[in-house]
Amino acid sequence: MAPSSPSPPRFFVFLFLSVLYPHVQYSGAASLPFHPRDVLPLLPRQVAWPVLSRLRGAVDLLPSFVGAASEPSDYDTNLSWKGACFYNNTAWIEFHNKTGSRFGGGTVHIEVNKAHSWTCMDLYVFATPYRVTWDYYFLSREHTLEIKEWEGKAEFEYVKNRGVSIFLMEAGMLGTLQALWDVFPLFTNTGWGESSNIGFLKKHMGASFQQRPQPWVANVSADDIQSGDFLAISKIRGRWGGFETLEKWVSGAYAGHTAVCLRDSEGKLWVGESGHENEQGEDIIAILPWDEWWEFELKTDDSNPHIALLPLHPDMRAKFNETAAWEYAKSMDGKPYGYHNMIFSWIDTIDGNYPLPLDAHLVPGLCSHHLGFS
Ligand SMILES: *[C@@H]1O[C@H](CO)[C@@H](O)[C@H](O)[C@H]1NC(C)=O
Ligand SMILES: *[C@@H]1O[C@H](CO)[C@@H](O)[C@H](O)[C@H]1NC(C)=O
Ligand SMILES: *[C@@H]1O[C@H](CO)[C@@H](O)[C@H](O)[C@H]1NC(C)=O
Ligand SMILES: *[C@@H]1O[C@H](CO)[C@@H](O)[C@H](O)[C@H]1NC(C)=O
Ligand SMILES: *[C@@H]1O[C@H](CO)[C@@H](O)[C@H](O)[C@H]1NC(C)=O
Repeated sequence: MAPSSPSPPRFFVFLFLSVLYPHVQYSGAASLPFHPRDVLPLLPRQVAWPVLSRLRGAVDLLPSFVGAASEPSDYDTNLSWKGACFYNNTAWIEFHNKTGSRFGGGTVHIEVNKAHSWTCMDLYVFATPYRVTWDYYFLSREHTLEIKEWEGKAEFEYVKNRGVSIFLMEAGMLGTLQALWDVFPLFTNTGWGESSNIGFLKKHMGASFQQRPQPWVANVSADDIQSGDFLAISKIRGRWGGFETLEKWVSGAYAGHTAVCLRDSEGKLWVGESGHENEQGEDIIAILPWDEWWEFELKTDDSNPHIALLPLHPDMRAKFNETAAWEYAKSMDGKPYGYHNMIFSWIDTIDGNYPLPLDAHLVPGLCSHHLGFS
């Protein structure tokens, strides 16, 4: 399920800004010039296109897990892996207490060796459930990533036991930029953004879009809707359109967002929905009168929502406990609903259910990203 009201897709905005302003966390040799390949996206399209078209688009935005850097007990415990640019890499972590805080901090040491060319570089994302940061390397040597202080006991213990997860952006700097370039239009609230979303769903999910005959709004009478009827919503435009597109692709569903209809004891119809924006601009779970909800979808929602009303099967309706549904809805009313809910909703097994190359290690990292930057 996805919130209905817009808030920026911060992960992508963050990644986008970080890639555009890499010097902020730069740790290589500042004097080395960029090779033309690294600035390809800035070159004229005719020149850049043959190279760029070989990349896989949005898939390149998904980092792959290389391992967890932990405190070495002996030499053999250092994590080692092969990168896209550097073929011999090791990492380990050293705990310290430079700030004299309760749990101290740590240094992640990364040694990269055997670059296959002098201009290539590897882009890494480092994550614990409490933080995500990134860095890139294009010089063979030892690099360090400094974490001054752990967020608290939970992060300290997590890193002691499980280490800091390291992800490689397989596509490197160029591929990542190109992938962002592909994904960015998904989020723009324009006809161009909308056709980008449709194009993405067609290409990556084999979805087909056929324009339905007019009128585009069915003549729905609220009197025909009963408790338990389900609303499947698909947004294809604007910021939530873009986020829903990626979510559909990751989850394999064709709806990005759902809501449920409920009638109260006086027979009034309500809609229970996640991600309603309140006056403070927070995304919360809300129960709205049907008329208000429908009016918004018809007149105000600029995400061009596609809404399907799916009535309960009579057998299911016979089992539907309206009292229990109301109790649950009221217990959730007003609760925050953020990216973390949405991302956890992608997961229906512990692992083995992610589109490649997403995996179980990435998800806690992504979630902390959304929490951390929300
Ligand atoms: C591996 O871990 C040890 C600490 O036990 C460290 O001194 C050493 O430099 C690490 N790195 C490599 C590449 O072996
Ligand atoms: C990989 O690097 C380590 C030091 O970081 C070095 O001891 C080892 O010999 C290297 N392996 C190869 C195959 O070059
Ligand atoms: C770090 O130093 C402070 C002050 O000396 C101390 O209270 C704290 O327990 C230390 N933390 C760790 C993890 O060693
Ligand atoms: C919509 O349906 C109602 C009956 O359910 C009918 O009275 C009304 O004329 C219909 N409106 C249109 C535009 O078809
Ligand atoms: C419906 O739910 C309520 C509240 O949870 C419960 O007390 C009641 O027994 C349920 N009714 C049926 C028929 O299961």
